[in-house]
This record gives sequence, structure tokens and C-alpha cells, in this order.
Amino acid sequence: MERRLAGEPVGRIMGEREFYGLVFHLNSATLEPRADTELLVDLALGLLPPQGSLLDLGTGTGCIPIAILHTRMDVSGVAIDVSAQALEGARDNAERHGVAARLKLLHGSWFGPLGAPAGQGKFDLVVSNPPYIETAVLAGLSREVREHDPVLALDGGPDGLAPYPILAAGAQEWLRPGGNLLLEIGSTQGEAVALVLRSLGYVEVTVHKDLAGLDRVVSGHHLGDNGHTAV
Ligand SMILES: C[S@@+](CC[C@H](N)C(=O)[O-])C[C@H]1O[C@@H](n2cnc3c(N)ncnc32)[C@H](O)[C@@H]1O
Repeated sequence: MERRLAGEPVGRIMGEREFYGLVFHLNSATLEPRADTELLVDLALGLLPPQGSLLDLGTGTGCIPIAILHTRMDVSGVAIDVSAQALEGARDNAERHGVAARLKLLHGSWFGPLGAPAGQGKFDLVVSNPPYIETAVLAGLSREVREHDPVLALDGGPDGLAPYPILAAGAQEWLRPGGNLLLEIGSTQGEAVALVLRSLGYVEVTVHKDLAGLDRVVSGHHLGDNGHTAV
């Protein structure tokens, strides 16, 4: 009770948080998963082909790929985070939910741990819920967020958009022709992020709303080198 009165979120006190019907352990380097992110999981499940492969960038607790792999036994994936401590948490959660054999966890910045792209990409779907809060806004966030979520999980640079061009450009190197990109966004960032995807050549770029009616995820379809979707 004292910890809660001092502004510590219930999930931090309990050391775990429910996401997509599963319980995820938290540590000080992992963002507490948010219900809004379940929209990204729903969209991913609709896009992944049979035996599909998934890449998650900035995995935190691993909630996104673990929820997907737990729902779809035929899917396998790779998850990356720049925080080694967050990855330890993701490994623990993957084992806890029985998907560790199908989820490879890699340490490093964005696509870096994958090495150089070789020819055509190998993933059917690339997803990310990157840090997207403007740096200047961080100090004004509620104390629950400001004092308990890791800044590395929140700070999206001066305009909050810094990760998006990196993620969208890198995904083009790693997606199979006909693959898809799903990026979580802040509720005011839909237009700006959609523009980033369109300017890079993604098609069918769509801004999806969450249950509160707010813009929450941008999706884009990656055509093959010849401009046609592979069949
Ligand atoms: C908003 S959190 C999302 C965590 C989790 N995917 C979720 O939805 O709850 C962003 C994550 O990106 C990671 N991150 C920040 N910069 C990164 C980078 N350059 N490369 C890889 N991961 C990064 C953070 O450590 C954090 O785990």
C-alpha cells in the first residue's frame, strides 16, 4: 500500500503484468506492457502466413512475439533489444510460456545483430513498438511512467519519431517480397509515420485505431524488387 501511495504501479509491485491473456514478468529494464499494444498482436496474427517468420525490434518483456507464438504454433521469430537486462526478462517469459524453442533472442541495436542482409529478406512480418515519446515531454509524464518505466523504452528523440525511418528502411532489407511492417505509434504520429513508409515505397499504408479510437499502429506492405507482391 505504501509503495502504491508513493506512485509505484501495481504491475511493478507485483513484478508482473497481464498481456494478451498471458502473464509477463517485469524487471527494471522492461516496459510494462500496455493493453493498446494488443492491437498490434491482433493485426500480426491476421498477416502471418502459415509457418510464417516474425522479427520484433525492441522486444522488452517479449510480450509481442511471445503472445503471437503462443497463439500460432506454426510461427517462429527473432526478437532484438538493446538492453541485455530486458532480454533476460524476455528469455524468462519465453520459457514460461513454452515458446523459447521458436524465439531467438538477440542483443543489440535494431537490425544490427542480424548482420548484413543477404539477398532477399527472410521475414514475413517485421513489428516494433519503439520508444516514441518526445524527449522534452518525458519529465511531464505521470510519476507511474516517469519513475518506473525505463527511459530507453520511452525516449523517441526530439520529435518522438527518431526510430521510425530506421525501422522502416531496415525492414525493407529484411522482409520477403510481399511481407508486411507493423509499427506502434503515439496517437498524434499516424500521418508522419505513414509518410515515412510511403516515401520509402511501402504500399497499402494504413493507420489503425485502438479501442479508444486513437491512432495506434501503422502498417505497410513491402513489394518485391520488381514491384510485384510475390505469390
Ligand atoms: C516502448 S518499449 C516496447 C517494449 C515491448 N515491445 C512492449 O511492447 O511492451 C521499446 C523497447 O525498445 C528497446 N530499444 C530502445 N532503443 C533500441 C535500439 N536502438 N535497438 C533495439 N531496441 C531498442 C527498449 O529497450 C525497449 O525495450
